[in-house]
Amino acid sequence: MTRTYKRPIQKVLLTVQTISKLSAAAKAIIEHAANNRIFLFYGDMGAGKTTLIKTLCSVLGTEDTVTSPTFSIVNEYQAANDKIYHFDFYRLKDQTEAMDMGYEEYFYAGAYCFIEWPEKIPDLLPPHYTNISIKALNDGSRQINIENF
Ligand SMILES: Nc1ncnc2c1ncn2[C@@H]1O[C@H](COP(=O)(O)OP(=O)(O)OP(=O)(O)O)[C@@H](O)[C@H]1O
Ligand SMILES: [Mg+2]
Repeated sequence: MTRTYKRPIQKVLLTVQTISKLSAAAKAIIEHAANNRIFLFYGDMGAGKTTLIKTLCSVLGTEDTVTSPTFSIVNEYQAANDKIYHFDFYRLKDQTEAMDMGYEEYFYAGAYCFIEWPEKIPDLLPPHYTNISIKALNDGSRQINIENF
């Protein structure tokens, strides 16, 4: 894993060569996010959002099975000291569906929130979050951009 710092320390670029190096990246992500508990995951289908979330959950100490909550919208896991909510908004037809499932109670619970396809809820994002943007390169490695807001 190589780590490049751009400007102060708002933005970090990680390059992950293989899946076996992902847990080092996950630790760096948690560290960089400081007090942020809300993480937005951007990236094409198959970029590796769910895989990275699985690794983050494992770094945070959950023994629960982490799977894509595509049909349930949100999964809940228990980590060592925290609750984790894992969202996948890919199938959302309208932002009101997120309101109906009570997204606010999850976002403002002080728990970790890992959100796949945040593009689907542009008006519901909280004021502070950490953006994670994943890009698969031709050699199979992943570029992971981390930026705090
Ligand atoms: N860092 C990585 N290095 C190599 N392969 C990876 C990495 N991360 C994920 N993969 C592989 O890419 C494939 C897709 O990963 P994943 O399901 O996590 O993508 P996703 O971004 O969640 O996709 P979707 O948008 O469909 O939910 C899996 O086969 C996984 O093993
Ligand atoms: Mg996924």
